[in-house]
Amino acid sequence: MQQDKKTPVLIDGKLIASTIKEEIKKEVADILDRGQRPPHLVAVLVGEDGASLSYVKSKEKQSQEVGFTSSVYRFPENISEEELLQTIDFLNKDEEVDGYIVQMPLPKHIDARKVTDHIDPKKDVDGFHPVNAGRMLLSLPCYLPATPYGIVTLIDRMGIETAGKNCVVLGRSDIVGTPMSVLMSRKGKDCTVTLCHSKTENLERICAQADILIAAIGKPAFVKGSMVKEGAVVIDVGIHRIKDDSEKGYYVTGDVDYESVAPKCSYITPVPGGVGPMTIVSLLTNTLKAYKKEFYK
Ligand code: GUN
Repeated sequence: MQQDKKTPVLIDGKLIASTIKEEIKKEVADILDRGQRPPHLVAVLVGEDGASLSYVKSKEKQSQEVGFTSSVYRFPENISEEELLQTIDFLNKDEEVDGYIVQMPLPKHIDARKVTDHIDPKKDVDGFHPVNAGRMLLSLPCYLPATPYGIVTLIDRMGIETAGKNCVVLGRSDIVGTPMSVLMSRKGKDCTVTLCHSKTENLERICAQADILIAAIGKPAFVKGSMVKEGAVVIDVGIHRIKDDSEKGYYVTGDVDYESVAPKCSYITPVPGGVGPMTIVSLLTNTLKAYKKEFYK
């Protein structure tokens, strides 16, 4: 489809997420009709971090909306590592729990790597366990981490062509940038991928060559129009609240300076309403797959 350069197609993550939720809801209704129990997702939450609390609440609410059973295991900030590992042992054994996540970040006295490594890969619906990360690298069936999975789903559902395209990923975090670079270079997506990070030289020049630019750098409005090629697809993973004089006291922006970038794009994700809504939906999709034992028998 030929697009007017000045009016990019908005990738409506909110709409796509709600469509997928309806699909999951229908599948759960069919499961219940067959007299089987619904999928069960558990979130483990340690401490009182406001952002973590609101993520977990949202996960709980959305799980219930699609008909899953949802539980939250809450622990005080001072829980010992041993006690948390025991909880994980318990969840690994509980046959009524299909998948669970341990909300990050964890308090400093707990070794998050040790905790993640303790999760049974079969129940690791965050896709953080090394077995799932390794299987992803080898294109074997596995749980994909929620944000990259959500982005790939947006690209698929929008029918965006990826084969042979230059894809530039900004940011190499374990949960977004690095898996994103792997997924875009795998067979099926077939991009030529450049993964940029804090030591990257000539960043602007590299970005300007991207057919698909995925910004997960964690800096508000970092990507400017001058860094983007005409007709590029731009995916904005960032979400930042910036204080201002408005009634709300803040405005929300992503890693992309929307005003200057959007007029150059063929497609762009808005913030909010782009990548964000896809993340929890991907977690729900993984939980349904865990319930159906799609990857591991
Ligand atoms: N903290 C921020 N994002 C995530 C996520 O996707 N999963 C977990 N477990 N913790 C997080």
